[in-house]
Amino acid sequence: MSNIQTTLSTATELLASSSDSASLDAEVLLCHVLDKARAHLRAWPEKELKTQDYNHYFQLLKQRQQGLPIAYITGKKEFWSRDFKVNPDVLIPRPDTELLIELSLKQISDNPKAHLIDLGTGSGAIAITLAAERPDTKIIATDLSNKALNIAKENASVHQIKNIQFIKSNWFDEITSCNFDLVISNPPYIAHKDPHLSQGDVRFEPDSALIAKDQGLEDIKKISNHARHYLKPGGTLLIEHGYDQQKAVQAIFNSFAYSNITTHTDLSGNPRVTTGQWTRV
Ligand SMILES: C[S@@+](CC[C@H](N)C(=O)[O-])C[C@H]1O[C@@H](n2cnc3c(N)ncnc32)[C@H](O)[C@@H]1O
Repeated sequence: MSNIQTTLSTATELLASSSDSASLDAEVLLCHVLDKARAHLRAWPEKELKTQDYNHYFQLLKQRQQGLPIAYITGKKEFWSRDFKVNPDVLIPRPDTELLIELSLKQISDNPKAHLIDLGTGSGAIAITLAAERPDTKIIATDLSNKALNIAKENASVHQIKNIQFIKSNWFDEITSCNFDLVISNPPYIAHKDPHLSQGDVRFEPDSALIAKDQGLEDIKKISNHARHYLKPGGTLLIEHGYDQQKAVQAIFNSFAYSNITTHTDLSGNPRVTTGQWTRV
């Protein structure tokens, strides 16, 4: 058989032509198979692998060689320091989306009982994070996909979340409550001809989570239009969008008469979330 160190170097070589992060991927997958933290690999490089673990590991490496995202192979992804179950029915939560969390938390810093709605919840990453960070808020989380809602509900149960109501809805269609303090969404916003769709992880993610008509703007337009009727006066709409959609999204917010329209940059300095306030009664 083979020890941890030699197995890792063989795996890194195997992944080198298919992944930009071959060494990290090799380590993460081995940790997954052994159910250990990365420190274990450093502490025990000479430790022999059991045949069963070795064979399992090489099956997973094969999937990675074929491009399958690490999160779909391991079945989980960390977001705001919590693990979320994921599978190919849901988008893999991105670190970029943590900007939506930061901005939402800031908006409700003096309103612990705020009412929020997360449209297109997918794995539930946004709604569950906000629910866990602010347990006195009341949150509705929606998706059009039953499969996504089931994953989101599982994640809510793992994290013992009690303050989210999950609703299957085409954006606002089934939403009967209004007067939300925040309407939050990371909707699909990629144009169907975007070359990024044929690269990396997105090749394996659901089209329904990624692609929107009208150059990626159709869902952002719908949400911005309808959110006006669901926000309380002074409430805020927060939408994640593509790094090159700032002008278009600001124009959409303007056309629907939002105030204080601001676009916020992510950690890489890209404009990724636009917020607007509904100030009319
Ligand atoms: C970009 S993903 C975001 C997932 C999750 N909120 C996150 O940030 O990781 C967009 C989500 O919107 C959902 N969606 C797409 N069209 C929808 C619609 N018409 N109504 C409600 N949800 C929709 C998709 O199923 C998907 O889960």
